[in-house]
Amino acid sequence: MSSLVDIHNRRINYLRISITDRCNLRCHYCMPKEGVSQFGHSEVLRYEEILRLAALAVKKGITKIRITGGEPLVRRDAVQLIQQLSKLSGIQDLSMSTNGILLAEFAPALFQAGLRRVNISMDSLNAVKYRQITRGGELSRVWAGIEAAKRAGISPIKINIVAIAGFNDGEIWDFARLTMSEPYQVRFIEFMPIGISNEWSPERCLSTEESKRRIETFRPLIPLGNQKNGYDGPARLFKFPGAAGEIGFISPISDHFCDSCNRLRLTADGKLRTCLFSEEEVDVKLLLRSACSDDDLEKKLDEAIARKPLRHGVVGGVIKRCHRPMVKIGG
Ligand code: 5AD
Ligand code: SF4
Repeated sequence: MSSLVDIHNRRINYLRISITDRCNLRCHYCMPKEGVSQFGHSEVLRYEEILRLAALAVKKGITKIRITGGEPLVRRDAVQLIQQLSKLSGIQDLSMSTNGILLAEFAPALFQAGLRRVNISMDSLNAVKYRQITRGGELSRVWAGIEAAKRAGISPIKINIVAIAGFNDGEIWDFARLTMSEPYQVRFIEFMPIGISNEWSPERCLSTEESKRRIETFRPLIPLGNQKNGYDGPARLFKFPGAAGEIGFISPISDHFCDSCNRLRLTADGKLRTCLFSEEEVDVKLLLRSACSDDDLEKKLDEAIARKPLRHGVVGGVIKRCHRPMVKIGG
């Protein structure tokens, strides 16, 4: 069976699977307050369908799978899906992106099901600001989720912050210093022009350089050289001397990492996407529901990979927006 290598010679070994477009939060930059259109029940891939495709993808060289949403933990039996996925031989890394609201409840079961690491979005450390950006989220629940994940043995725990000028740029140091005593990987992500169109502007995107500068006015960072080129996935990692945790910067805007992009995405409604910023999608749902053979599915996977663009449209000051909101792609 052929392995997944695109025409730019990038080996595709990472599949991100969105299992729902629903979310229990309404982050300003991601979702409108109300009137969110949601996929109907029959539009969303069933777990058997996801597992069939995932098994085939793993056979073809996918070694990393991440479950995303919306918020994956709002879909019923997400734990069972994780358990089935963890049994696929060939998977070396199984993770989940979550907003953490339901994590306190699910962390032990997720660990037992085979989940070994988790990324948690937390854009403010201030309960009032957190409630504001998420339109009603309770920060204390996220903290409870983080604590529960730690107790359950999930490691590493990565905390993702979208760095937004005029919102949380005054909290960069507060986030960074968490790593002094806690074993978390705190990651600052440059705000991308995706999702709700009027929330983003170039001025609101706090660059990695600026976030790093703010941290280093308090304490110098040491680059971590233990990953290839200083990167861990798309994150460039640092730490404070003697700290328990690490600090990462993800720079999709200032330093796009398209050249080494190894990702393929499956949306909850059964479309394969090879680039977050591209409108190109390959439908696998129709095929999955038409009594297709594994060979047919494999051809679809190859077709999607063949269309993977060399790089995204947010390069050199020219911004090409993506119109499918993040919540319907899966981050
Ligand atoms: N820019 C950067 N990151 C984003 N996320 C959602 N929308 C954006 C955006 N416009 C992040 C979430 C989460 C991950 C899934 O993607 O905050 O950390
Ligand atoms: Fe939900 Fe994540 Fe979107 Fe916030 S950013 S509304 S947590 S999917």
